[in-house]
Amino acid sequence: MTLPVARWRVSYQRPIEYEIVNAPGLFEPENPALLSCGRVENGRRFVVVDSTVFRHFGEAIQAYFDYHRIRARIVPFASGEEHKTVDSYLGILYELDSFPIHRRDEPIIAIGGGVLTDVVGFVASSYRRSVPHIKVPTTLMGYVDASVGIKTGINFNSHKNRLGSFEPPRRVLLDRAFLRTLPRRHILNGVCEIIKLAIIKDAALFNLLEIHGPASVEAHFQDDAGGDILDRAISGMLEELEPNLYEDNLERKVDFGHTFSYGLETRHEAHLLHGEAVLLDILASCMLALGRGLLSESETERIISLVHQLGIALDPTLLDPALMWENLLERIEHRNGYQRVPMPDGIGHCIFLNDITQREIEQAVERLTRYAIFNNALSAHACLEPLTSNT
Ligand SMILES: NC(=O)c1ccc[n+]([C@@H]2O[C@H](COP(=O)([O-])OP(=O)(O)OC[C@H]3O[C@@H](n4cnc5c(N)ncnc54)[C@H](O)[C@@H]3O)[C@@H](O)[C@H]2O)c1
Repeated sequence: MTLPVARWRVSYQRPIEYEIVNAPGLFEPENPALLSCGRVENGRRFVVVDSTVFRHFGEAIQAYFDYHRIRARIVPFASGEEHKTVDSYLGILYELDSFPIHRRDEPIIAIGGGVLTDVVGFVASSYRRSVPHIKVPTTLMGYVDASVGIKTGINFNSHKNRLGSFEPPRRVLLDRAFLRTLPRRHILNGVCEIIKLAIIKDAALFNLLEIHGPASVEAHFQDDAGGDILDRAISGMLEELEPNLYEDNLERKVDFGHTFSYGLETRHEAHLLHGEAVLLDILASCMLALGRGLLSESETERIISLVHQLGIALDPTLLDPALMWENLLERIEHRNGYQRVPMPDGIGHCIFLNDITQREIEQAVERLTRYAIFNNALSAHACLEPLTSNT
């Protein structure tokens, strides 16, 4: 008689490997990058393109696939946070389901900003339980942040990214020429995430921003120094993401600016971009760090002055301490029972706090408002105009 089995154990490891590649001239016919990681002969591609990018490059994209005799279904997608919805996600899935592609060697191609790559990444992760995808960021936010990691997501039930997955892309293709047509406000939106990295982990990047940032912003990062800033920001981001791709460790430096900004972004969705909300959070956090003696007066002034030099205008009166406290309590759920708030202790370093009080948040916001008034650095109501595709 055999003994009854008490348990079965399954253990399986799957390596994750993908490359982020500088691929200028992406739609030039001889450039093979866009067809990497898949079948070319008799190949097909399902391509989702940001509708603004489609207006600029739609013909070039179609010509590229025609040249290679690839049957391509090119789907324009209206971006902006208001389109990061279940409906948009389902809309793309219906399109995809009507265009047959092989499950392994005809990767979906996502060309657009962070909204598009987050939504299409989620489509790729859930369609047939995962099909490969390639990301091509066309905004600065996508270039330095949204496209380089493995997180996908859509907003749900009034919460940002409440539905989503971890889905590594097959490849990320970078062509900073896309940034030429990006409106200045969206350039600055991406710069906010670069400032985040500089303050929290990279003093040399902070110096680069101080010296070259304003000119690079003017040049939409087409200048040499702009290229250096972008490369350094991506390297820094990957240093944080790669050892912790699935966020087993919930103390994440890259969460700086992503604690108090959540509700702010949702409350002011029509007026405030992701990076702008993140920067308001960062500035309030710096005031909190100043209050604790983690940052000195001169370091705090350097940070405010950098924001000013880069031409970023934000309205600190949008910060509502009660909402920020609510967000912190929500983040405690997200971070498994602890605040785990990254906080700079000097420019280029951070620690994690678990004992922030509601009173401290109130004081930080008061201090920031005073700073804003006395230094005339952050002009009130500057970002209250509604967002349109031309902003
Ligand atoms: N997955 C992640 O790890 C991660 C990280 C950071 C941010 N995000 C997400 O990214 C989103 C924000 O991304 P975003 O700021 O790129 O917004 P977005 O995708 O809405 O793009 C912003 C605007 O720029 C336009 N646009 C795109 N490329 C253009 C170009 N080359 N020229 C002219 N216009 C262009 C779009 O049509 C849109 O109107 C947020 O939803 C955020 O949650 C995700």
